[in-house]
Amino acid sequence: MNDRYRIIGPLYDVLAAVFSLGQIDRCKIAMHDYIRPGDKILFAGVGQGRDAIEAANRAGEVTVVDLSESMLNIFNRKIQGRSFPHQIRQAHSDILAFEEHDQYDMVFGNFFLNVFPPELEFEILGHLVKLAKPGGSVVVGDFSLPKGGAVSRLFQNIYWYIADTLFYIMAQNAFHPVYDYAAQMRQLGLEIMEVRTFRVFGDERYYSIRGRKLQ
Ligand SMILES: C[S@@+](CC[C@H](N)C(=O)[O-])C[C@H]1O[C@@H](n2cnc3c(N)ncnc32)[C@H](O)[C@@H]1O
Repeated sequence: MNDRYRIIGPLYDVLAAVFSLGQIDRCKIAMHDYIRPGDKILFAGVGQGRDAIEAANRAGEVTVVDLSESMLNIFNRKIQGRSFPHQIRQAHSDILAFEEHDQYDMVFGNFFLNVFPPELEFEILGHLVKLAKPGGSVVVGDFSLPKGGAVSRLFQNIYWYIADTLFYIMAQNAFHPVYDYAAQMRQLGLEIMEVRTFRVFGDERYYSIRGRKLQ
């Protein structure tokens, strides 16, 4: 299997922290207040997984899925020697091959969907919705849709394309405009419960959106 994150993976969290002045880390755990002890929580494309570790510390029953063996190795080094109220389950898998439908109280796709080209991205978001329990949540943390005046939108787009170009070169991520996750989540039948936004250099750059799957 071609491990696209082998080279950039070890640098991922440091790059994200510097590029976002720490806001990406905050965005990824923005909805963690909703985690109740014993909730089944899934992290799709977990990467280094600080957000998953934080969820496990809150006594969530955490499952992580990632296609990259090197990313899972880094995750394993991070949790080595630590104990959690529930052991963290790991799956080395393509998310589309992971079919535990209607099982999860919360499904997180943090900075995950932006990896994919448009049609696949929408298919994968639909798949994340299937993995959530009826009444459960799907949380998407990612670059927010550029908004405001023309100059502000231009800077937000430049900011996104700097990141996208780097990951296009280093990890063969898709090259595309920022996705409108909130609109897609509504289209897939989720009720948007909450959006938390994160600013860098005066503009909103990231958001975490929590959508509820109907019963
Ligand atoms: C941009 S990184 C984000 C990692 C993490 N969620 C974060 O916010 O730091 C995307 C992650 O998705 C994983 N990934 C890419 N395609 C995948 C797929 N089809 N199924 C599961 N994981 C995938 C990559 O290996 C990588 O770890």
